[in-house]
Amino acid sequence: MSIAALGKAVSIRALNKSYGATLALDDVSLDIPAGCFCTLLGASGSGKTTLLKTIAGFETYDRGHILVGDADIGPVPVSKRNIGMVFQNYALFPHMSVRRNVAFGLEMRQLPAREVTSRVEEALALVDLTPYADRLPRQLSGGQQQRVALARALVIRPDILLMDEPLGALDKNLRQSIQTELKRLHAAVGATVVYVTHDQEEALFLSDQIAVMDKGRIVQIGTPRGLYDKPANRFVATFLGECNFVPAGAGTLAVRPEKIVVGEAARAAEHILPASVASVDFIGRGFRVLLDYEGTDIAALVDSTDEIAALAPGEATLFGFRQRDVIDVSAP
Ligand SMILES: Nc1ncnc2c1ncn2[C@@H]1O[C@H](COP(=O)(O)OP(=O)(O)OP(=O)(O)O)[C@@H](O)[C@H]1O
Ligand SMILES: [Mg+2]
Repeated sequence: MSIAALGKAVSIRALNKSYGATLALDDVSLDIPAGCFCTLLGASGSGKTTLLKTIAGFETYDRGHILVGDADIGPVPVSKRNIGMVFQNYALFPHMSVRRNVAFGLEMRQLPAREVTSRVEEALALVDLTPYADRLPRQLSGGQQQRVALARALVIRPDILLMDEPLGALDKNLRQSIQTELKRLHAAVGATVVYVTHDQEEALFLSDQIAVMDKGRIVQIGTPRGLYDKPANRFVATFLGECNFVPAGAGTLAVRPEKIVVGEAARAAEHILPASVASVDFIGRGFRVLLDYEGTDIAALVDSTDEIAALAPGEATLFGFRQRDVIDVSAP
């Protein structure tokens, strides 16, 4: 497939960007290997979109460097950066067919008509939209429109594909099916992707690498499992997944809710503590139990058993966890 193997490495070096008094990017450094699917994860206002815009060239920066491959793209105008973009409000041209929407970027680049045709057909096939090529955007579902946007970004064979919450407007089922498709497409195409999402599960599912951002800084970079199992500090532990901080003498023990056992099962754990039940909720794959331990809320995700189902608010119980499931979040 000729769309394959497009990726170039991206290296962000000590990038700074202020809007007036707001430091939107504070000394951001990030190395994204060629072909990597890298997700920026962070709260609203943490600088994710600003970082994408500086890579795209829509936004200037004050200091630092952005390298694509070996080249500093600082002086390269937007139109000469070979970057594909998909944003949340993917504005397709409403009066143009799917095929013309996808062809647009190539026509702008004045490619020969035959090449445009073959590349457009290839891109449409890649996102499974060949049968829809002659429709107008409004005759497509939201997910199909999203795939047109993706085809339009891929067809130019970008070195880098930037996506800013591209699935934000979609419902959960559609999101999940497009996530699966995105993952397949990334494997097939091999582009370097910088992706922004608010959705932790989406980030964990899609990414080779996740960069957690907070207030314009990158707090931690790692693989999904690396970040989840070994968050560097409390911020990452609570931002990526849920985390309990169990008071223990002078300090606290950080434990994920799925690592906590409740009731009789707790007697076999290394750490065993008494608590009272605050609430018990059935969530399909199990129960979510909220406990009160000396005034601290403790959340546990446990399997469905009759014992758990019978727990009543106010009742005394035990909870426990293994020492190996305690996360070290002592870094600042
Ligand atoms: N054009 C602008 N002028 C002034 N301040 C801006 C501008 N764009 C962004 N900012 C500020 O820079 C900071 C980072 O904004 P940015 O859009 O990068 O956040 P984000 O992480 O993408 O947030 P969200 O998740 O809400 O999209 C915020 O404090 C924001 O208010
Ligand atoms: Mg944003």
